[in-house]
Amino acid sequence: MIRTDAQRLWGSLMDLATIGATPKGGVRRLALTEADRQGRDLFVRWAREAGLAVRWDAVGNIFARREGTQAVPPVMMGSHLDSQPSGGKFDGAYGVMAGLEVLRTLNERRIATRAPLEVASWTNEEGSRFAPGMAGSGVFTGVHRVEEIHESKDPEGVTFGEALKAIGYAGAGRPHPVGAYFEAHIEQGPVLEDTRTTIGVVQGALGQRWFDIVVTGQDAHAGPTPMELRKDALIGASRLVLEVNRIAREYPDYARATVGFMQVRPNSRNVVPGEVRTTVDMRNASDKTLLLMRQDLEKSADAIAAECRVAIEVREIVHFPPCEFAPALVDAVRRAAKSLGLSHRDIVSGAGHDAVYLARVAPTAMVFVPCEGGISHNEIENARPEDLAAGCDVLLQAVLESAGI
Ligand code: HGY
Ligand code: MN
Ligand code: MN
Repeated sequence: MIRTDAQRLWGSLMDLATIGATPKGGVRRLALTEADRQGRDLFVRWAREAGLAVRWDAVGNIFARREGTQAVPPVMMGSHLDSQPSGGKFDGAYGVMAGLEVLRTLNERRIATRAPLEVASWTNEEGSRFAPGMAGSGVFTGVHRVEEIHESKDPEGVTFGEALKAIGYAGAGRPHPVGAYFEAHIEQGPVLEDTRTTIGVVQGALGQRWFDIVVTGQDAHAGPTPMELRKDALIGASRLVLEVNRIAREYPDYARATVGFMQVRPNSRNVVPGEVRTTVDMRNASDKTLLLMRQDLEKSADAIAAECRVAIEVREIVHFPPCEFAPALVDAVRRAAKSLGLSHRDIVSGAGHDAVYLARVAPTAMVFVPCEGGISHNEIENARPEDLAAGCDVLLQAVLESAGI
């Protein structure tokens, strides 16, 4: 059974991780920044060195293509090169490098596939600098319009379109048909490591609802203003944070809810805050429960607004239901793990991935590998070379089965 080159895969990941490297061993490659450009340039250089045809589209999604013997839709692998502000070396990068490693291996072995093969690097999967996340794959699969994504703004007011142009990745071209899509990714949770399992056979992913929230009170002097007369936006926001946590703990079906971003204005120690901008990220395995969680959030916001004498605007900016991957491809992943003699187990992804949107236009599956302590979206994110290589070998086998040789 052919295997990919573990050394070369690890080397590519470590070289890529020098771009945007942070002091604690992570990476900061926020979407469409100079660091993102450098990561993209490195991937494009390596892809061209591997003889792949490289192009990018109107939102900067990069496609590296290896022709097949038949003119049919490509079997695609991919993930993302952008990271969280203090992200890890493997989130996203692993799926792009594993796809590249599969093509490098096929080149070396002079194996021709019937279907063409492509490795995609999707723009702004993380949704940290620009919301929504999974923006590039969202445009490719018709979830978002190009204009809507180009007009999205970062907290400094820079538009996605301006930033994309500035890094030189504003391409053209329409989405193209995809025969099948496979994404390799670290689990970003503790299940595989806790159960000493090498391969996660991913059944699907949790649904998500993202909200932008503005709490409006009134700036006031911290001295002369009596407590009972204040319209303190930060008190309102703080009460909301606790409500979000209560909701996640109260609802069933893998309920998750997080407040991860908060901007306090005017942010001065002796001024009662008049405005707070914050966010809520809600997730659930059931779309019905996810809606109930949203309704609970809205009801809580109304009650807090009245009690704290502030206004609270809750605006939903992302919603996608839980998704299931294609059973035939999920089975191919399971069979590949089995034939390679790798421990494996079914698992549901708590994280969103570009595969969630690709699943709307093509049969899709994911391959998970463990990460240390289940920690991700953190500079200490780590994974073992042998696990990353095992996941890449599974990816190779599953892709060959789909593409045909
Ligand atoms: O937030 C997510 O689920 C993904 O990791 N960006
Ligand atoms: Mn990711
Ligand atoms: Mn991520």
